[in-house]
Amino acid sequence: MTGFEPILPVVVIDDARDAEALGRALLAGGIHQAEITLRTPAALSALRALAGMPGLRVGVGTVLEPEQAEAAIDAGATFVVSPGLSESVLAVCERRGVQAVPGAVTATEVMRARSLGLRTLKFFPAESSGGPAALSALSSVFPDLAFVPTGGIDASRAADYLALPSVIAVGGSWMVPRAAIAAGDFTGVEALCRTAVEAAR
Ligand code: 3PG
Repeated sequence: MTGFEPILPVVVIDDARDAEALGRALLAGGIHQAEITLRTPAALSALRALAGMPGLRVGVGTVLEPEQAEAAIDAGATFVVSPGLSESVLAVCERRGVQAVPGAVTATEVMRARSLGLRTLKFFPAESSGGPAALSALSSVFPDLAFVPTGGIDASRAADYLALPSVIAVGGSWMVPRAAIAAGDFTGVEALCRTAVEAAR
């Protein structure tokens, strides 16, 4: 059902030429997965470069339209994350055999996703939607669902989410700051990744 490690970096990358150094920093920091968000023109090229790196599982994020899912899967994405639920995006994922992880934050949204067969959901935006307490209450009535809380989480909060039995991974950009990537500070990214992995133990 899952296939996720506990820490899911949510990457916003401005220059695809930084992708391989980023991938090496993730791996050196003990992280073997990344969600590349479609928020920059460089995202698809970066995704393609990262998907070609052995040992790294790469997905796509901020997927709003089915065409974006198609293009990202063509580029090597093995999971597709969306802020909310789009049936047309789900249809692409189903046809292509790629895991979809749509966002849901209310019981009604969760029930809708569940009724469509989904069992792993993104709890987004996590911090402003009530944080671990809200997710704990929500997931207590959906024992067959797994959640990836994302949005506003940082190193100090990750363990609180991961302590919940329903949480299989915590997503966030705190260990891959956009500015650090753009500045070429991959030593810093590696250190942040290592700290995040340690906090998840
Ligand atoms: C997402 O795309 O999932 C979030 O915007 C990432 O959240 P963060 O940048 O607040 O960690």
